Amino acid sequence: MSYSIALNFEDGVTRFITCRKGEKVLDAAFLQSINLPMDCSDGVCGTCKCRCEQGKYDLGDDYLEDALSADEAARGMVLTCQMVPSSDCVIAVPLPSTACKTGPARYDTTIARIEHHQDAALEIECDVVGAAPVFMPGQYVHIGIPGSEQTRSYSFSSRPGATRLSFLIKRVPGGAMSAYLDRAHVGERLEMVGPSGSFYLREPTRPLLFLAGGTGLAPFLSMLEVLAANGCAQPIHMLYGVTRDQDLVLVERLQAFTERLPTFTFATCISTSESDHPRKGHVTDHLDSRDLHGGNVDVYLCGPPPMVEAVRRHFDIVGVKPARFLYEKFTPNASPAPALVEEGA
Ligand SMILES: Cc1cc2nc3c(=O)[nH]c(=O)nc-3n(C[C@H](O)[C@H](O)[C@H](O)COP(=O)(O)OP(=O)(O)OC[C@H]3O[C@@H](n4cnc5c(N)ncnc54)[C@H](O)[C@@H]3O)c2cc1C
Ligand code: FES
Repeated sequence: MSYSIALNFEDGVTRFITCRKGEKVLDAAFLQSINLPMDCSDGVCGTCKCRCEQGKYDLGDDYLEDALSADEAARGMVLTCQMVPSSDCVIAVPLPSTACKTGPARYDTTIARIEHHQDAALEIECDVVGAAPVFMPGQYVHIGIPGSEQTRSYSFSSRPGATRLSFLIKRVPGGAMSAYLDRAHVGERLEMVGPSGSFYLREPTRPLLFLAGGTGLAPFLSMLEVLAANGCAQPIHMLYGVTRDQDLVLVERLQAFTERLPTFTFATCISTSESDHPRKGHVTDHLDSRDLHGGNVDVYLCGPPPMVEAVRRHFDIVGVKPARFLYEKFTPNASPAPALVEEGA
């Protein structure tokens, strides 16, 4: 029996390690060539202190209060030299990946399908050469623009574990990646580096509210795949807002999720006044106070930066502080991809 442990580094890089039953995280990481911070490896110094964001584990009682106080332990802080997982876990490491002698993985992929949605967006599917990337639903990769040194970030819309990866990408007039994808063909190779990001689905312990703007729908498709596969007793409501009629894509896929996932409902809205859509305006115009459950709700928000800011302002105005509020901004100026490290290196 073994568990999958996601190590989320400060620079946004995520690396996954396998931890055998009874094995300590620090030891498992070291055997898999990741040097997590450590000094005594004995529960004395506190150097290996990290935060466990998700999952079950045992810390034993062989460590000193000076290394980890009871208050810290209650807040999810862990000593990786003492931590024995009893489920899959996500651990936030307070250092950049390079400081731990690791970095993101690189994947070679081949384009398997391209579907254009008018002038609004396109979906691409890519087959991975080799093992499927491990990621958490909601995370993204850096994709290299063939023939250039540039990369752009894209959220996986496919489920973790699949060897066919999918992405939903907005067509940006004059955009470098958009221009490449307009002329791309099945069979061409795309290099990806990742996964990255802290916008990923947490264990659903309360109602979920998904707010998607435009191709910000992509990470939710991956999350919904996981929720549908695992089942989810919590109500999940999605508001999906776009600018124009033709920007509203993959609605039939959301409809199919309502059948696979009985607790899932969704509504769409279109902001341009020229539309005949029954719900006009922005996502914030259609946020029903019932969907906020008085704050007892996990809100996931993904879209262009102005939408993210508008939703944050809306919560301030209505005076609701969601129990959990996670967002991903699709900022146009992509940062350079981190240094490459082969998976398993
Ligand atoms: C973490 C993260 C995840 C992302 N995931 C996705 C995703 O799943 N799907 C997706 O479609 N995009 C996503 N993006 C945005 C994506 O990385 C690119 O920025 C976008 O696709 C534009 O790339 P491009 O090369 O076509 O245009 P660029 O060559 O980068 O831009 C050309 C011009 O268009 C402007 N521009 C760029 N993007 C937009 C925009 N969206 N609207 C209006 N003007 C723009 C630029 O400022 C520039 O002037 C994500 C961004 C981040 C940071
Ligand atoms: S390395 Fe010293 S407490 Fe863990």
